[in-house]
Amino acid sequence: MTGPRHNPLRDPADQRLPRVAGPCGMVLFGVTGDLSRKKVMPAIYDLANRGLLPPGFALVGFARRDWEDEDFAQIVHDSVAQHCRTAFREEVWRQLAEGIRFVDGDLTNEDDYVKLKSVVHDLDSRMGTSGNHAFYLSIPPGLFPVVLKHLKSSGLADRTPGTWRRVVIEKPFGHNLESARELNTVVGSVFDPGSVFRIDHYLGKETVQNILAVRFANSMFEPLWNANFVDNVQITMAEDIGIGGRAGYYDGIGAARDVMQNHLLQLLALTAMEEPLSFSPDDVRAEKEKVLRAVQLPADLARHTARGQYAHGWQGGIEVVGYLQEAGINPDSHTETYAAVRLDINNRRWAGVPFYLRTGKRLGRRVTEVAVVFKRAPHQPFDTSAVEDLGNNAFVFRIQPDEGITVKFGSKVPNTSSMQVRDVTMDFQYGDSFVDSSPEAYERLILDVLLGDPPLFPRHEEVELGWQILDPVLDYWDSQGQPEQYVSGGWGPHGAYDMISHDGRTWRRP
Ligand code: BG6
Repeated sequence: MTGPRHNPLRDPADQRLPRVAGPCGMVLFGVTGDLSRKKVMPAIYDLANRGLLPPGFALVGFARRDWEDEDFAQIVHDSVAQHCRTAFREEVWRQLAEGIRFVDGDLTNEDDYVKLKSVVHDLDSRMGTSGNHAFYLSIPPGLFPVVLKHLKSSGLADRTPGTWRRVVIEKPFGHNLESARELNTVVGSVFDPGSVFRIDHYLGKETVQNILAVRFANSMFEPLWNANFVDNVQITMAEDIGIGGRAGYYDGIGAARDVMQNHLLQLLALTAMEEPLSFSPDDVRAEKEKVLRAVQLPADLARHTARGQYAHGWQGGIEVVGYLQEAGINPDSHTETYAAVRLDINNRRWAGVPFYLRTGKRLGRRVTEVAVVFKRAPHQPFDTSAVEDLGNNAFVFRIQPDEGITVKFGSKVPNTSSMQVRDVTMDFQYGDSFVDSSPEAYERLILDVLLGDPPLFPRHEEVELGWQILDPVLDYWDSQGQPEQYVSGGWGPHGAYDMISHDGRTWRRP
């Protein structure tokens, strides 16, 4: 096994040891995009800084730019210096920079892939990347097929015995069920299923992985985790930002395709699935797929879904424009920036328990959480006035930004002569219990790709199930014209409040 880049004396119990990647090179397509600069490049540096990349590592950028290797290295340097999670250390950077190369190439031009191939092969001998190559497609989805075609025709995707080739695909995986299937056929004609890594970065978050740990490592929660005790589940992904400079990506995609089809449905699957036989990739994915297969949309989509578009407003004391006024957005756009749906799960555990999913941009604040809201106690031996401030008990996975878990329950108010009860919370904060800060999702996922470790990557079947669930909602919304406007800095459109109040419930205020 290849050693870490730096060779500090390690504690034999050091959990990192088995997780150091072997020699390999990564080709990054889409080096000028936001995601590459803010997430992928910094994550590669952070892995290097943590000693998890091998000495034989190379990063090759491919784009149509008149750049030399040094120009690209400067781009990587700047993005790392600005966005890395761990401290910037000159010696780590220098070592990483030795393996950085750039190929000026057009994604659609076959000859440029031949150039790329010779650079990649040269690195195999010069940097010792040993013929192992990952291709990271951080590019608009419309370009996936042409890149895949050229990876195949140029021979870049062919592996020789004892080496590997892997492809990393960023969402959206298609636009609907049909296009997702088409894309999968194209990917499958170049790479075998075990070599395809579809990134859903939510699965790389520690707090998301913790859902299964908390549910299945403990005895206190699982007995209550069912329709006998749970009233409803609310999965919220609220963002305070707008679309920023991503008009080209976002318009025509919208909130449901951008994050509900993937991140929110993954959160639902982890919250609702049965215990897997083991944490092997196949066992976990099988349980997720089983529960996603049991998901049912309400018959009345007008009543049980909501969408909206942010209008002008104020965010953190700053005046912000509405979606239709954002640069690059079609002023007649029907793209939703807020989406909410009610889903039901047709199995014994969850029959009759609605799962409410909501997400939006330019909401009151940034927060992602999964709240399991319990039924009221069947009988309460208190005066009605004494429990006026008592809500439903709740168990909340705080996914971000204030990572932890909250349990909400009723408690006697001290110094009251009658039995006055109101809600209190018990909180677990990562920072209080663990010394190490959590790695960024992209650090975990990129390392998993280099190690060939697939559990945190959705299989194509999960992707298909996501579209199967949401396609009818998307078609329905398409037929409904302009989405309702909501004020930036608020909590979404009136329709979302109506949707949940039709069921006699309210949204949690995160
Ligand atoms: C991405 C979406 O998948 O997730 C973005 O494309 C969104 O629109 C982002 O802003 C949010 O990620 P996080 O990790 O900040 O919740």
